[in-house]
Amino acid sequence: MQQYDYLVIGSGIAGLTYALKVATECPDKKLAIATKSYEDESNTRYAQGGMAVVLDKVQDSYQQHIEDTLRAGDGLCDEEVVEFVVKEAPARLKELIAWGTKFDEVKQGKYDLGKEGGHTANRIVHHKDITGFEIQRALLERIHECPNIDVLTHHFAVDLITEHHLDVEVTNKSRNCFGAYVLNEETRQIETYLAKITMLASGGIGHVYRNTTNPKIATGDGIAMAYRAKAQVKHMEFVQFHPTALYELDREGQTFLISEAVRGFGAVLRDKQGDSFMEKYDERGALASRDIVSRAIDTELKRSGDEYVYLDCTHLNMEEFEKHFPTITNKCKAVGIDPAKDLIPVVPAAHYLCGGVEVDHYGQSCVGNLFVCGEASCTGLHGANRLASNSLLEAIVYAHRSFVKSMEVFDTIGDLPIPPEWSEKGTTHPKELILITHNRKEVQSIMSNYVGIIRSSERLNRAHKRLRLIHEETEELYRKTKVSPQLSELRSLVTIAYLIIEQSLKRDENRGGFYRTD
Ligand code: FAD
Ligand code: SIN
Repeated sequence: MQQYDYLVIGSGIAGLTYALKVATECPDKKLAIATKSYEDESNTRYAQGGMAVVLDKVQDSYQQHIEDTLRAGDGLCDEEVVEFVVKEAPARLKELIAWGTKFDEVKQGKYDLGKEGGHTANRIVHHKDITGFEIQRALLERIHECPNIDVLTHHFAVDLITEHHLDVEVTNKSRNCFGAYVLNEETRQIETYLAKITMLASGGIGHVYRNTTNPKIATGDGIAMAYRAKAQVKHMEFVQFHPTALYELDREGQTFLISEAVRGFGAVLRDKQGDSFMEKYDERGALASRDIVSRAIDTELKRSGDEYVYLDCTHLNMEEFEKHFPTITNKCKAVGIDPAKDLIPVVPAAHYLCGGVEVDHYGQSCVGNLFVCGEASCTGLHGANRLASNSLLEAIVYAHRSFVKSMEVFDTIGDLPIPPEWSEKGTTHPKELILITHNRKEVQSIMSNYVGIIRSSERLNRAHKRLRLIHEETEELYRKTKVSPQLSELRSLVTIAYLIIEQSLKRDENRGGFYRTD
């Protein structure tokens, strides 16, 4: 059994920021960051466009950023949350810079502010088109300087430890988290990690769909674990589809993103005939909010039978373009597309989950001592649809607020109970791992075919029925065989798919990113 003061699950912007703050403020406390892949693999690593922060008080204002966020969220944002997130942004940005993150400047001390869909002003700070990579690099460098943090890579959290594992009768109200059972992929043993405070920063769910901008780690494990621990999980129906993932023939899984900042830079969406079509759908054209652009593309593709639309950059200043978007330019060239001359084929892909584990203004879930931060959480900032570049911002603001609150509550937490060692349900190794792969693909097909950008009760019910069988098969495998990361991820994906379908069936209106034909 391993005992820490704080257990952080996940090494993206949310987990790293929280851990760094706690470790620096409390050098006498011990922290573990358990992360299921390499330390720098996460959604954060791939963030391109940047982070929304009001810095230019002449052309922009907090009020404008608040209004843009509320407009995108379509009536479901928590207004108090929106206000404090927007207003706390400059202070959190300053910290990122002090930790060594470099943001592009137009001249010394004046940041280059980009624009993206749904924003009424230029307010996106960025590092070329690899903002997330740069933020994570700087955070990891600082984390490595902290002697009181153990970074445990290839440590896969399987379940949160609550009274349930102690065989104690509990009501939802009195449930607490004491750490997690974690699969050490090197030893293949599931180890007990006890901690007074657990921070769940396990990111998103993109791989519940066939095509997603997310890397493979995004299987919703944290949300599924929290759901099993009886945390409240809400707004799961609001999955955001990014309008412009690069179309590559026969590509499945992680697709390459063409940042919305490219449209902010002046790129135009065209159909295969070369006609610009966004003006038919919204007066803001290609810079309407993401839900509108994705639905418009989906409608165009269904009407034309085509597999993709085009993003046209050919009229832009290419010298500037390449400076601003070197990664996108290189990727396009690597697949034979020259953005200066060719149109870029793009399709919508699953990108971001607006919902997640419900938390209060300080990142606390309803399970005692369980904080949740970043994409796994539902704070009320995004409502029915996230405004572009508000996610990195939400993660750092809530990492700070969770840090403040955990400092306050740490000493009030009593001695931890000693939970039993993980009792393996099954003892055999699965005879055919391929069955797990098949079921994972089936979940992705069901979700992509029936629970995509445009839904209906008929499609949702069909998805529900088909998922039931996969659920039964997966639970049987779980009872009989040893837990592996593959099986654990499949369980998570099935749970996430259920939550999205069930919460979609309950929403009988079209709002934000959620749209059903009936
Ligand atoms: P992540 O960064 O995803 O980190 C999650 C961590 O948890 C990972 O380390 C993962 O390995 C670990 N983990 C997961 N499950 C387990 C488990 N069972 N056990 C142990 N560890 C686990 N947002 C913006 O604001 N601006 C942008 O420009 C932007 N661009 C984006 C571009 C792309 C291509 C993508 C995919 C997303 C983009 N986003 C952007 C969204 C944003 O990057 C993410 O929402 C944000 O980085 C999430 O941070 P996080 O720390 O919550 O999760
Ligand atoms: C992008 O660069 O288009 C992604 C921005 C985001 O997801 O906020």
